[in-house]
Amino acid sequence: MKFSKFADKFANQSGIGMLMDDLGNALQPGQQVYMLGGGNPTPIPAVRQFFHKNMQDLLQDGDAFDRAIGNYDPPQGNPRFIKALSTLLKNQFGWDISEKNIALTHGSQQAFFILFNMLAGPYPDGNRKKILFPLAPEYIGYCDVGLEPDLFESALPSIEIQDELFFKYHINFDTLNVGDNIGAICVSRPTNPTGNVLTDEEVKKLAQIAKEKQIPLIIDNAYGKPFPDIIYTDVNPHWDSNTIVCMSLSKLGLPGTRTGIVIGPEDVIDRITRMNTVLTLSPGGVGTAIAANIIEDGQVLEISEQFIKPFYEQKKDFAIECAKQYFTGFDFAIHQPEGSFFLWVWFKDLPVSSHEFYQRLKKRGVIVVSGSYFFFGLNQPHPHQDQCLRINHAQDREVVEKAFQIIAEEARHLCS
Ligand SMILES: Cc1ncc(COP(=O)(O)O)c(C=O)c1O
Repeated sequence: MKFSKFADKFANQSGIGMLMDDLGNALQPGQQVYMLGGGNPTPIPAVRQFFHKNMQDLLQDGDAFDRAIGNYDPPQGNPRFIKALSTLLKNQFGWDISEKNIALTHGSQQAFFILFNMLAGPYPDGNRKKILFPLAPEYIGYCDVGLEPDLFESALPSIEIQDELFFKYHINFDTLNVGDNIGAICVSRPTNPTGNVLTDEEVKKLAQIAKEKQIPLIIDNAYGKPFPDIIYTDVNPHWDSNTIVCMSLSKLGLPGTRTGIVIGPEDVIDRITRMNTVLTLSPGGVGTAIAANIIEDGQVLEISEQFIKPFYEQKKDFAIECAKQYFTGFDFAIHQPEGSFFLWVWFKDLPVSSHEFYQRLKKRGVIVVSGSYFFFGLNQPHPHQDQCLRINHAQDREVVEKAFQIIAEEARHLCS
């Protein structure tokens, strides 16, 4: 069959699609798999209990369940959920917002598709704009969402060697160039893939630059504050009237409900609402029905603080112990893990690319993600794209430990 350019764009995708195909096709039948690749959250028993109870309450609460599954919500999203969230953000964090500043989407991935194509590409005045990522490497899920080619520009980080084990990327503010061709600045906080968490100062600096340039700052809060709060440093959530904050119920434990949240200026929210109408009629209503009461009574903050953050923090500490124990006989460093549930490991002397390393690990049943996928929008390659792996450390201890043993064996074998 012949297809349009629009269809070809998705056939030729380079990043996340290739990766997903690769994962699906690569494994031998019956092979033991150590899945440290994707970004699926781990079910946390204490958190699941809340969702189970809320579901049971819905079923017992008159026709509440039937309404959640039997009705289309308005295109902006479930009004009760939106009101509860705007009240929570206003009361707890002093954000100057109302219901008019929030729209829901089918997962935040869909929000990025809408936002990036809304703020980059051809403008009515004939200009073309791009989304600027000030701190490469960035989230693999961004790189294929542009309908127009060449939609992204990324800036390389400066690298701080912190000690024998840890390094950290920083935004290079001295060389960061925000030209007139930039339609928005975007950062994930925590950053997927590195686990970096921009400090409040860094976010304020970016917000100031965006304001001066009269473009929005987009903050991808998928793992961030106030929920799910998978952040181990002391930072505050950021909001101002020039910022678009994207959140999600996924890493709270509800990825299957596909609930994304965009908080932004009213005109942005209005456009998202209109696009929701065209693309999907309305966002799904099941996630919001299950989570509405923990947003209303603010319990979502305690759940994040008491259960979700410590759960992933323990996983992170264990993964670092495994790296210390098994990663011997070759030179490596770990990006300071300040948030999310990934370790970004730099193998300094690999004689093969990270993609080749990933292929070799896959043959042994260990699925990680090659660093090569996270460096898009650059006009020059960076050595780290061939030297780093992203490892999801949120699996069971035995799985993580065995996977680290295999990664170490393979790295030693290559480096010897
Ligand atoms: C940084 C980041 N942003 C956005 C998303 C999209 O999440 P969802 O569409 O499930 O809300 C993910 C998913 O893993 C992510 O890691």
